[in-house]
Amino acid sequence: MSLYEDIGAERVEKILRTFYLRCFEDVMIGHFFFEKDHEELLKHQLAFTIGMLGGPVSYQGRALTLVHNPLPIRPPQFARRRMILIETMQAEGLEQGLIDSWISLEEKLKSLILKDQSSCQS
Ligand code: HEM
Repeated sequence: MSLYEDIGAERVEKILRTFYLRCFEDVMIGHFFFEKDHEELLKHQLAFTIGMLGGPVSYQGRALTLVHNPLPIRPPQFARRRMILIETMQAEGLEQGLIDSWISLEEKLKSLILKDQSSCQS
């Protein structure tokens, strides 16, 4: 059984919707999402996450490096996003084991999201 099935389709979608609403308004990372199409973003993100959790969708969107490379995302901002995701899952009543499994899948993507910090000038 996949993590996606363990969590359930409805809960995955509900968590992501709430999570993104919080991200868009967040003082540390909200500015990255200014002037982006929030519904479109959510659609891609949902497809990506379903695939990542072993669900029946394969993500057809742009590569994560391509999308995030122009954004100067720093490690504390990556950590902030993770905290918002954990809080959203907890508020939804997700079991700790499922939270840990989801988070560990996202942690593997860190190098695709963050720029090479050694060449970062600001
Ligand atoms: C602090 C961390 C992150 C920030 C600030 C961030 C921000 C963004 C922004 C602003 C976009 C829209 C880009 C555009 O349309 O030009 C985007 C797209 C996206 N992000 Fe992130 N992101 C972060 C981490 C992640 C992580 C960890 C994942 C994977 C789990 C992810 C998955 C995606 C996907 C699938 C898209 C849609 C790509 C597309 O439109 O084709 N992001 N992100």
